[in-house]
Amino acid sequence: MYAIMIYDRFQQESIDYINAGHSVIVSAPTGAGKTAIAEHVIETCIQNKQGVIYTAPIKALSNQKFRDFDAKYPGHIGILTGDVSINQDASVLIMTTEIFRNKILDDPESLKKYSWIIFDEIHYIDNPERGTVWEESLMFLPIHMNILALSATIPNIDEFAKWLESIHKKDVKVVIESKRPVPLRFYYQCHNRIIDSWHDLRRARERRPNKLASIISYMRDKDGLPCIYFVFGRKRAEDLAFELYSFDFLKGTEKDEVSALFADLCERFDLRSEPSAARLLPLVERGIAYHHAGMLPTLKEVIERLFASKLIKVIFTTETFALGINMPSRSVVFDELSKYYGRFIRCLKTRDFYQMAGRAGRRGMDKEGFVYSRVNLQRVRQEEVKRIIYGKPEEVHSQLNTSYATILSLYAKYRENLFEVYPLSFHSFQAGGNQQKKAVALMDSKLNLLKDWDYIKPNKLTDKGLFARAVCGYELLLSELYAEGVFEGLDSISLGMIAVSTVFEPRRIQQLGSIPKAARPIKDACEEIYQKIRHKEAVSRIYPFSKPAHFHLAYPIFLWMHNESFSKIIQHSVTDEGGLVRYFRMAIQILREIKDAPISPVLKDNLSKAIRLINRDVVDAEKQLREG
Ligand SMILES: Nc1ncnc2c1ncn2[C@@H]1O[C@H](COP(=O)(O)OP(=O)(O)OP(=O)(O)O)[C@@H](O)[C@H]1O
Ligand SMILES: [Mg+2]
Repeated sequence: MYAIMIYDRFQQESIDYINAGHSVIVSAPTGAGKTAIAEHVIETCIQNKQGVIYTAPIKALSNQKFRDFDAKYPGHIGILTGDVSINQDASVLIMTTEIFRNKILDDPESLKKYSWIIFDEIHYIDNPERGTVWEESLMFLPIHMNILALSATIPNIDEFAKWLESIHKKDVKVVIESKRPVPLRFYYQCHNRIIDSWHDLRRARERRPNKLASIISYMRDKDGLPCIYFVFGRKRAEDLAFELYSFDFLKGTEKDEVSALFADLCERFDLRSEPSAARLLPLVERGIAYHHAGMLPTLKEVIERLFASKLIKVIFTTETFALGINMPSRSVVFDELSKYYGRFIRCLKTRDFYQMAGRAGRRGMDKEGFVYSRVNLQRVRQEEVKRIIYGKPEEVHSQLNTSYATILSLYAKYRENLFEVYPLSFHSFQAGGNQQKKAVALMDSKLNLLKDWDYIKPNKLTDKGLFARAVCGYELLLSELYAEGVFEGLDSISLGMIAVSTVFEPRRIQQLGSIPKAARPIKDACEEIYQKIRHKEAVSRIYPFSKPAHFHLAYPIFLWMHNESFSKIIQHSVTDEGGLVRYFRMAIQILREIKDAPISPVLKDNLSKAIRLINRDVVDAEKQLREG
């Protein structure tokens, strides 16, 4: 029925286990071919008329998989993320892990028809903010579902599998591939020389700064293009691209081809009169581009397609280009070997390094992939370079941090016995006695706060409790606004302003500018409630504290909901274009979640109207997905 591919050993082994009815965890390097295993599950399920769910950690990846799978298995694929919902009843359903977790906790009946769950990039369980979602999904997974978990290389994969076996009481097979299909070769730029061994980093006598032009010329002369150049900063990506302006990588007809393709794509994605697209044109005509989260999602997509067409020879990009999307290249460059982890700049983790480095070397096209690291020995020590590149990838550790919403869901199910679920967690499996006690104590504090504050009374969730359960991540602030009747009195535009202010997180230096008059009473209400929340959490020692609302984007969304153009509202925004679209999409998601809570019909109508007013043009993710 489908194209035959000669499977690699690890693919075949995984497939044999799947056919024998086992759950499987696969740990294999970037670009090794994990998708083929997922596709085998999908094909088997389609043939047997069974349902399968596929989860990915980021929406860009879910969207790409939707496109790929839909092209391969037309009519069988659906997608459900906070942003888009297409063909929801399809037997193969792609979703974010958050949505899957919520289904497990609040509507497990709806999962009856699915016999498999595929977790792509499951090493995300280690993510400090979101890892708990993977952990909870696995803890409470319905027993009828088989698991296919796909992971980057992690050394404690066996421990992970043992945990799963212990809670699901069935075999979980581990398949490990350590070899890359295309081997990598490492180079360094240090004191503006290119060397091929980290031993030699210190040898260079003459101290000279690394030059961009030197490394790019070197790669070009060695036939090392195309290259993906990873930087850790949006502005840096653009600056470097323009620094390369004197280069021209395109020959003969390539120039005309790229101009035509770019014009065509801009037309298709409504970007013809978009200044940020125009800014890229002269670069694109030279085979150069940049790609980062600050750009319009549609423009990012245009650039991805140009890169896939092989007409872009050097792309400057942030880390998002490294995750899961199949965009290989001959070479990869690291601008530096450190990046922001949370609040601090630190040396790269080995796992993160390989997630990016693994983009080098295209299967079937390159014998080797080349990985260049630009090293400044004043900023990173030689031993660190060695550790990053030749060290063991980091283990994954539980990041369990049960949200108020999850505690409410668990309470609805288990009542006072809810702490009995803790021993099911990866946290409990990994942690020592003291840490276990702390984790349970934190859950207990959260539960007590919820009881004290009438989210649970006497033995069941109140309306406020049901509301809070629907708005994971923003439970207390939104539920208190709801309980005080604030939402009922608001029009759709004010609802939009609350939503975007709830999700927005300013950087340290961002001052709050002017806000619409209508936002002032809402802001006061939010601040008053937040003081109470903060006080209660501090007294109960619940860390980290819930997030306050920030009204920096109230004015842009106010204008947007009054039908102003994107180019107008961006002038009033403290974030860049990509950030603004992302926050507007998050606002839509939270409005949708409120809509699912027990609320009045009038409020429901106003929420629908708010969603309609925000979800248009570049903000409309579903439009982007359908048109592409
Ligand atoms: N057995 C095979 N023979 C030839 N090519 C293959 C084989 N398996 C996979 N490929 C090709 O390898 C490329 C990378 O595969 P894939 O995207 O599945 O990697 P991955 O392991 O999921 O990596 P990532 O960590 O980036 O998610 C694809 O172009 C795919 O078609
Ligand atoms: Mg993959």
